[in-house]
Amino acid sequence: MSSLTSEQAKAESQPALGVYVHVPFCASTCDFCAFYQKQPTADEVRRFLAGIEREAALVAWPRAVSTVFWGGGTPGLLAARDLARLAEIVRARCGGAPAEWTVELAPGSVTNERLTVLREAGVTRVSMGVQSFQPALLDALGRHHTREQIHRAYERVRAAGFPSVNLDLMFALPGQTAEEWADDVRAAVALAPDHLSTYCLTFEEDTKLWVKLSQGRVKLDTEHEARLYEATWAQLAAAGYAQYEVSNFARPGHACRHNLNTWRMHEWIGLGPSAASQQAGWRGGNIADLERWLADLDRGVRLTEDRVALTPALLAEDALIFGLRTNAGVDLASWRARAPAAPWAVIEDTLATLAAGELLVREGAVVRLTNRGRLIADTIGAEIMAAFEPLVETV
Ligand SMILES: C[S@@+](CC[C@H](N)C(=O)[O-])C[C@H]1O[C@@H](n2cnc3c(N)ncnc32)[C@H](O)[C@@H]1O
Ligand code: SF4
Repeated sequence: MSSLTSEQAKAESQPALGVYVHVPFCASTCDFCAFYQKQPTADEVRRFLAGIEREAALVAWPRAVSTVFWGGGTPGLLAARDLARLAEIVRARCGGAPAEWTVELAPGSVTNERLTVLREAGVTRVSMGVQSFQPALLDALGRHHTREQIHRAYERVRAAGFPSVNLDLMFALPGQTAEEWADDVRAAVALAPDHLSTYCLTFEEDTKLWVKLSQGRVKLDTEHEARLYEATWAQLAAAGYAQYEVSNFARPGHACRHNLNTWRMHEWIGLGPSAASQQAGWRGGNIADLERWLADLDRGVRLTEDRVALTPALLAEDALIFGLRTNAGVDLASWRARAPAAPWAVIEDTLATLAAGELLVREGAVVRLTNRGRLIADTIGAEIMAAFEPLVETV
């Protein structure tokens, strides 16, 4: 067992603080994806790295960092020397490597050189976007890797010795049968990752799949989706993966702490175009445009989009929306203490309606969704948001 560094020990003893770095570069755009990303030029990568350094210097760092997450886009697309530079910037701000440090990789760009840089920098967790093992389904997603690339990448990641490895899978894909999905889950389990994220395809506006949906070339089937959700939960439980959130499953000790802290409404600092932050009494996002983000930084400005005050009402609302997506649920007693001025009468009404519909159960101070509730967690989230809408203050 490795012992904690003094910075890691300090972070453990204080309220959690996460750092999210958005790397906005991909080799190509998948047909389903609405995350901000583009194909980079060498000059854009150079200016992005300089921008991250400048943005990090503008942040008031309140305390030691507990977790880091590099997402995107595809952080693993950066050349090894650029990964090393980004790691250097992050480590300088965090006083070394945090206890959990995740990097998203796409199977097509996993090389030993990149993995060595990441491992030596102190990255502890690799998350790989597999989506499917089946060529026809990958093709339907506009995704350009092969089954062989997935296996080769996974072997390299394991050989490099990362303590925790996640695979992302997607289901309810156009034309995908229940058997094909079960085969994908089986193929993932056969690799024995520590963590699995299984995402139901959402049709995001302005993606190629969204266009197909609006033209009637693909169809939504919510009952089929619900059956796939339930089949996934059973299949992964039988394989030893505990569900801890609607889309997330882990072997003991491998739940993603960064995401859990975010869902529990702790603070995080987002760096990079489109990254959100929640810190020092407000939440906001960086502009989802590399050039405008850089121009903002030149003027010494960050977080220009959707700024809202972190009022007790907003914190309680989001603690419910995200907390109810977790299997642990939400401890209302601790939230009453943390946000005493939240509109508890509205909250109790909303929860009572969900309980009456057998979508939620209450055990002491803890509320959690039933399986039936978890199947429609998105709808429940939208209802909670609507109930709180009049109480959110923009700044
Ligand atoms: C931010 S993406 C980045 C991962 C990485 N670039 C990759 O694709 O290899 C993280 C994950 O979100 C999921 N995802 C992205 N768009 C989605 C959508 N429209 N519906 C469902 N899942 C989605 C995919 O599983 C993807 O791996
Ligand atoms: S899913 Fe991943 S690789 Fe595909 S466009 Fe989105 S971020 Fe890039």
